Amino acid sequence: EKGGYDHFMMKEIYEQPSVIKDTYRGRLHANEGLIKMAGIDDNIERFSNAQRILIVACGTSWHAGLVAEYIFEEFARIPVEVEYASEFRYRNPIINDKDVLIAISQSGETADTLAAIKLAKEKGAFVFGVCNVVGSSISRETHAGAYTHAGPEIGVASTKAFTTQITVLTMIALRLAKLKGTLSNSDYHRYLSELEMIPEKVQEALQTNEVTKQIASVYKDAQNCLYLGRGYNFPVALEGALKLKEISYIHAEGYPAAEMKHGPIALIDEQMPVVVIAPKQGHYDKVVSNIQEIKSRSGKIIAVVTKGDEQVRALADHVIEVPETSDALSPLLTTIPLQLLSYHIAVMRGCNVDQPRNLAKSVTVE
Ligand code: M6R
Repeated sequence: EKGGYDHFMMKEIYEQPSVIKDTYRGRLHANEGLIKMAGIDDNIERFSNAQRILIVACGTSWHAGLVAEYIFEEFARIPVEVEYASEFRYRNPIINDKDVLIAISQSGETADTLAAIKLAKEKGAFVFGVCNVVGSSISRETHAGAYTHAGPEIGVASTKAFTTQITVLTMIALRLAKLKGTLSNSDYHRYLSELEMIPEKVQEALQTNEVTKQIASVYKDAQNCLYLGRGYNFPVALEGALKLKEISYIHAEGYPAAEMKHGPIALIDEQMPVVVIAPKQGHYDKVVSNIQEIKSRSGKIIAVVTKGDEQVRALADHVIEVPETSDALSPLLTTIPLQLLSYHIAVMRGCNVDQPRNLAKSVTVE
């Protein structure tokens, strides 16, 4: 049942190349320059009239929402707000019939997300679900939606659900960009073909298994860990930290790299491992200066970089290489070694990887 792996989590990490393909199959037509998604196409007016998009979710799904915020705003130029479902539902939010609310949930059963949907519906918003479990409560409660097609996710720590959620959300952003003409033709086509190549590149990113295992053996006894990223990779830092907390019980925090100097930098000493997500696009130079700041305070640097990077390699204690892709799609690759790193650390610490203490796969109570 675990397909030869020791844990469901590992099986699910390794399934990502194939499930991402399942997610875009029949929807992404790179050669024709088309995205076909029934849930969007059937409701295209609601999306084209949307003055803003609200995204509600919890946990890892909320992190996928944050990645989507960057992608939607960049591709489709629609203002996006991402909210924890639990906060949204209890603060008398301002919503109207011009809003589109996207609820993201692997299980489709998360109580707070479900309640946020009901509230948004009462206020007239159009509610779209991005769920994995077919026929789940959230998929039934929403006006329309798109399934992630990741297949059953058994490990409590979400892995393949996250990358397939980002895949669906990226396709929606591209569909809306096409509708609104907000991306240049060449960028639009480039993203489509880059997305099509992501499964192969995820496969290549999985080859970081050995190096992450070796890094895990060095840091398995750490008491704290910091994760830093900027732009599209800031939410990846949050997700990397959540993964480590959940399954290894090491205290970890994710931060936007530039925020470090506003507080967390005080934590840095030779005991502090800092995972920096530094692919070679976007804010690369800025991240390099952040790495220098950590180094000059003797922090230990574990950097996730683009294959062939030399500049960060010269500064970091460890580098993990992932293939090159466009900046907006890089979270689909940079996430992979972070999943593997937390997996190996948890295994080395003797933790119950698939069923960490105090956690349940779906949180059906508020
Ligand atoms: O099923 P959902 O996506 O609604 O679940 C949301 C969170 O409970 C979930 O992502 C949780 O944070 C995971 N344990 C993360 O690994």
